[in-house]
Amino acid sequence: MDATNLLSDINVVPVVVIEDKRIAVDLALTLFDAGIKAIEITLRTTDALDAVELVANKVPDIIVGAGSIRQVEQFDEILNRGAQFAVSPGATNPLVSKAKQINMPFVPGAATASEILVLMNEGYMLQKFFPAERLGGIQMLKALSAPLPEVRFFPTGGISAELAPQYLQLKCVTCVGGSWFIPPTLLNRKDFAQIKVMARSAVEITSV
Ligand code: 3PG
Repeated sequence: MDATNLLSDINVVPVVVIEDKRIAVDLALTLFDAGIKAIEITLRTTDALDAVELVANKVPDIIVGAGSIRQVEQFDEILNRGAQFAVSPGATNPLVSKAKQINMPFVPGAATASEILVLMNEGYMLQKFFPAERLGGIQMLKALSAPLPEVRFFPTGGISAELAPQYLQLKCVTCVGGSWFIPPTLLNRKDFAQIKVMARSAVEITSV
């Protein structure tokens, strides 16, 4: 299941690490109020699945996805918790098969021309490009997409407020993801007012 349609009018996706599920709903509401339409909650903490469920249930207006998918079993878990899409830093045959089996919109990760081609052949026309800045950023994406003009990318990893609009100027980039507008310092002290200011700015600079 390609995620192109689900994410077609979304330019920026916050990639969040939620250590404490009690902040999940307030964070999602804050981001939604700032104009964010989709959130990716990474499965890197013990509270992540609960956070996905809380956001799915209590903030139905935001599209909630689960990120950092690396095991097949995680697809059933996130489906049961109400996730609407899944993101992985990479891709394996079992992950791709499982996503198709349960009809879960999935953004698999690719970093080389061969990985991109394999995923295109599986029908994935929107792919995560991770870790974007470490892989060579905008110049690398331009070079990779020249011979692969059909594929679209969701770059994440090291993207800043300054870089996000530059990525979005590329025809091959559908949306960017990142955590630059949800700094852990603000999240830890529950400064949702400041997070809202930063998220609103992220929405503005990515509205291209
Ligand atoms: C991801 O999982 O996509 C990245 O951790 C997000 O990258 P960033 O924290 O560098 O924005």
